[in-house]
Formats: sequence, structure tokens, C-alpha cells
Amino acid sequence: MEQRYDLSGSLLHWYDYNKRILPWRENKDPYRIWISEIMLQQTRVEAVKPYFDRFMEVLPTVYDLAKVDDDRLMKLWEGLGYYNRARNLKAAAQTIVEEYGGQLPADYDKLLSLKGIGMYTAGAIGSIAFELQVPAVDGNVLRVLTRLWGDDSDILKDKTKKAMGRRVMEFMPEDRPGDFNQALIELGATVCVPNGQPLCDQCPWDTVCKAYKEDLIDQLPVKTPKKARRIEHKTVFLLECGEQIAIHKRGDKGLLAGLWEFPNEDKKMDAEDIKEWMAEHHMEDAKTKAAGKGKHIFSHVEWHMTGYEILVDELEKSLPGNVIFAGRDELEEKYPMPSAFEPYLRAAGLEKRNAGGKTAPYPEQ
Ligand code: ADE
Repeated sequence: MEQRYDLSGSLLHWYDYNKRILPWRENKDPYRIWISEIMLQQTRVEAVKPYFDRFMEVLPTVYDLAKVDDDRLMKLWEGLGYYNRARNLKAAAQTIVEEYGGQLPADYDKLLSLKGIGMYTAGAIGSIAFELQVPAVDGNVLRVLTRLWGDDSDILKDKTKKAMGRRVMEFMPEDRPGDFNQALIELGATVCVPNGQPLCDQCPWDTVCKAYKEDLIDQLPVKTPKKARRIEHKTVFLLECGEQIAIHKRGDKGLLAGLWEFPNEDKKMDAEDIKEWMAEHHMEDAKTKAAGKGKHIFSHVEWHMTGYEILVDELEKSLPGNVIFAGRDELEEKYPMPSAFEPYLRAAGLEKRNAGGKTAPYPEQ
């Protein structure tokens, strides 16, 4: 029965009438498609849109990206999370300029060899920008397909992604591979939705979907539960001197590498500890006040933070080492700071400025 049903025809017909108008669908510029696909990893379409528009305004070509200043790049990414995505984009842009004359290669293996481009992204760029016959299997597509076929394989396993990619190739149309892959993604994002009940009455595959027919929607897809996140306690210091506020640049490796933060200690500190810390940094006479608690969820870690505002009246004397004082304007425009510190930006009277004006839609990494 399912064999004879025109899966790709019905899907493409549905897509032609229901696809969303999105900025990266305006044309087939491979650069725009690449940037959008990287931004869309782990991040919702609505959250990506303003970031995408601003990125294209500031860095309209691969040449602009290849030579962008790191802090400027991070500022464009500020709040989107998973900052390695942005660093990898710049590294790949340099390769594209140096090795491919500034053009993204129209070849799956060459795309795959670029920094930050995995199987899904190579498939998405290859098919959407260059009409290559390659699968692009992301979480949306896995949800749709496991339900369609009533398949209970663990979708977090690479083996499952590869097997689904092979099965997709059996019904990918020769003439529209890019639209076909986007249609699968779109169906997963808007009908066979990730959270809540899918809208099966709007699905082009409702008559052939095994999960729908056999009432398996709630059981599929299967995902092995992840390990619980590690909890890390932090004490965050808002050291303020008039209009200036202390910030510190994180190291080049690990979580939030190279971004700016408020000085902090990797432990929970009580009133006595704070007094000692202030004495150590020659600010025993400064006024202090609680700046509230904050919690931030990353993919593998949770930060549980407690903040203290400390009003100092001399800059240099108070520096705890490797710290600079920045004006509030500079903090908004120049120094990229991850969303984790947002509660303390607010406590210091600053709204974080980013394209969307919102905190990260998904955990930052
Ligand atoms: N998610 C990943 N790729 C996408 C695309 N091209 N359009 C909409 N959502 C997506």
C-alpha cells in the first residue's frame, strides 16, 4: 500500500501550498543558505530570523565573514548560543576564500570537509543551493520518518540517521531535491511538531502514516534519555565605579571561549566569604548589595549563580586581575557577553542588546 502511494509528490504538493516565507528562501545564494542552516541548528526559526537579517546586513559575503573581527562576530551571535558555530563559520569562510575562490563548493564531500559542516548541513546546502541528490536528515526529519514508518530505532544514534538517509534517497525526486528536503523539515517543524500534539489532520501523509494509523504517535520517535546535567555554582560580582563596570575575557578554550563575563568565582559564597574576597581585593570599604540569583542551562551543565553588586570608588585598586572596566555603551556595543549573565546586566541597569532582544532560545554551549 505504502509503496504505491506517491510520498514525494504529495509532500511537494503540500509544501508548495504551505511553505513559510523565510528570509533564507528568498533566493538560492549558497552563502545565505549556509549561514541560515548553521543558525538553525538547535535554534527555532522565529529566533533565527532577526539574527539572520542582521548578519547579512553586516557580513553580506563570504569575504566579509572571512575577515571579520572576532569580537564583532561574537556580538552578531550574542544570545544565539553554541558560539563555536560562529567561530567555525569564520574558519570555513577563510577556507572557501583561500581554496575555492570565494564560492561554496557544489560537492557534498567538499562541503563536509569544511569546519562546522556535518552530514545534515552538507546535505541541506548541497540539495537546497546546488540541487544535489543528497539527504538532509535532522531532528525534524527523523521525527516525521520514524512516525511514517513506525520505526522505533533510537534517533540519537548515528546509525539511525544514516539508515534514514538511505531510505529517504529511495523516494527523493530527481528534479527537486532541495525542495524535497526542505519540505520534510517543514513538515516536521509545522505539522509533525516537536512539542505537543502533531496536527495530523493537516498532514499530506495521514493516510499512510503508521504511527497515526496504529496510535503510536506518543511513543515515537524513540530517544535514549540523556545524562542529567552537572550543576555548577558561581558567585558573580558586579564591580561598579560610576558609569564603569568590570568585565573579564574568558579563555580561548572550553565553554563560552573568548566571550566576556562579569568577574566571578566557581563556588557559592556566603556573607563571610564575600567580606574576605573584598578584603583580598582591597575593597573592604565598598558598599555591597545582593544582585539576585540566576540560573542558566547549557547543554551539559547548569550554572546556579548568586550575584553581588559592589560599588567601588577607585578603579585600579579594585581590579581582581585580568579584568578591565568598560563603559556601559561599550558593554552594549563592543564586548560580546553570553545570555547567562543577563540577570546581572539587568541588575546593573543594562538591557543586553542583540538582534532579537531576547535571551537564547535554546541552551547555550
Ligand atoms: N530548519 C533547518 N533548515 C531549515 C530550513 N531550510 N527552513 C526552515 N527550517 C529549517
